[in-house]
Amino acid sequence: MTQDQLKALVGHAALEFVPEGAVIGVGTGSTVNHFIDALASIRSRIAGTVSSSERSTQRLQAAGIEVLEANAVASLPVYIDGADEIDAQGCMIKGGGGALTREKIVADLAERFICIADASKQVAVLGAFPLPVEVIPMAAAQVARRLQALGARVVRRSGFVTDNGCHILDAHGLSIADPLAMECRINQWPGVVTVGLFARNRASVCLLGTAQGVQTLHFAAAPADRTEPKSA
Ligand code: A5P
Repeated sequence: MTQDQLKALVGHAALEFVPEGAVIGVGTGSTVNHFIDALASIRSRIAGTVSSSERSTQRLQAAGIEVLEANAVASLPVYIDGADEIDAQGCMIKGGGGALTREKIVADLAERFICIADASKQVAVLGAFPLPVEVIPMAAAQVARRLQALGARVVRRSGFVTDNGCHILDAHGLSIADPLAMECRINQWPGVVTVGLFARNRASVCLLGTAQGVQTLHFAAAPADRTEPKSA
């Protein structure tokens, strides 16, 4: 099977995690596009969606699926999204498509993050995929220097502006042994909007597309002593 066929496989498999009558969170990317196409077939069975990007909003609406504002919901039962890398604890690098901030906002509203990914996304250690960091433009040089001090080679994503009017720095060459610690550290830097590490908002489940079919992986939540409770 091609990579796109594996993405389609998990995009369709994710329907089983869509609760009847619920509002659900929808991510961004080529894998999620397959999920949205599948979701269209059961659109009358959900109450609506909260979208993580303008691109997904357009695709959802074109499929006749209602899109609600994130501020209109207090919580979501599930958030379904892809990943650029996922490790054995369900921690992920996301933001290859540049939608990381809204993805993290919608993921944070959700009780469960269902990651849909082809098998090439599974890694032992995060970091071979460049880590995206969304920054306020006036802080870009300082944030880049801080990332370089961590050992990264930093490339500003040329000609790209996020849905929030910000820039993306891609940090190459990191080996991220403790994703939660690195997420917390980079989040503290002035001018960082969002780092594309999803360790606090890690996957609860990953539907992994393999040549043998869909593998379902379950993960424990992030350690409670290092994160805020969801209701905080
Ligand atoms: C979008 O900003 C990303 O976080 C995507 O979820 C991630 O890049 C996976 O994308 P694909 O499904 O296109 O591989």
